[in-house]
Amino acid sequence: MSDPDDALVLGFPEYPEQARALAQALELECAIAEVHRFPDSESLVRLPPALPSRVVVCRSLDRPNDKLVELALTAATARSMGVQTLTLVAPYLCYMRQDKAFHPGEAVSQMIIGRQLADQFDEVITVDPHLHRTPHLQQAVPAARTVALTSAPLIGEFIAGRFQAPLVLGPDGESEQWARAVAQSCGCAYGVAQKHRQGDRDVEVALPHVELAGRQVVLVDDIASTGRTLARAAEQVLAQGAADVQAVVVHALFVDDAMDHLRRAGVSAVWSTDSIRHPSNAIALAPLLAPALRPAQARVAR
Ligand code: R5P
Repeated sequence: MSDPDDALVLGFPEYPEQARALAQALELECAIAEVHRFPDSESLVRLPPALPSRVVVCRSLDRPNDKLVELALTAATARSMGVQTLTLVAPYLCYMRQDKAFHPGEAVSQMIIGRQLADQFDEVITVDPHLHRTPHLQQAVPAARTVALTSAPLIGEFIAGRFQAPLVLGPDGESEQWARAVAQSCGCAYGVAQKHRQGDRDVEVALPHVELAGRQVVLVDDIASTGRTLARAAEQVLAQGAADVQAVVVHALFVDDAMDHLRRAGVSAVWSTDSIRHPSNAIALAPLLAPALRPAQARVAR
């Protein structure tokens, strides 16, 4: 062990810049864990040979299944090396959408994965978790300390700097909390559409009654995965005569053909926070995340 009063930010190979930016904002050292995937897909995780008493693991949990196993290996290894306070900074927190059993026998992933992370980490810090029916992150992730930050002010600032009096539009009811907060932050009008999803890629969107002719519309949502929600909203917006439609999302999952699909639907540009590494990243989260860690420099009692 090195100086026990030190702390270290531990990043992972697929998300190193964000870990380094966080470490820099906190004036801490940063190390990147080594991850080897064996031919049969098992993971080997190798941490630095010595760790301080506090380690901040910075890893976003998009495409999460391997990462969850690797976090379990990381946490157990760090504890065995004497780490006392283990913080997880996961700007995108996975498995938060499945918050109830919609059919008998269905796993309530939010509670199960949340419990697993709380067992491994003293603190869990994230950004705009998809908590729809669960009011507080602590209920989903019962760790000693949880922090759910919102990127809405940063997104609002981004929109204010790039657009002139656009209409902010949330593409479904669940996006209302983000659309409203972003619109308040940039001083724009906002509206919220309604969505009916019949399948992963089968979505219908009905717009609110707002005059769209000639307007600049910015779609705002927390998550974009297949891009179908944004695409269906964009098509409707353009059909009603909007001059331009762009999209800003917090978590840029953008699986498979999502970006092509959005372009074909007429979305002229897509922007995102760097909660998930993606070419659309335009809003850095380190300035938001760092202050949430500072009060926790003191160790969490276990
Ligand atoms: C769900 O309610 C979320 O807010 C997003 O609207 C949803 O995850 C987007 O999914 P997709 O891009 O696959 O339509």
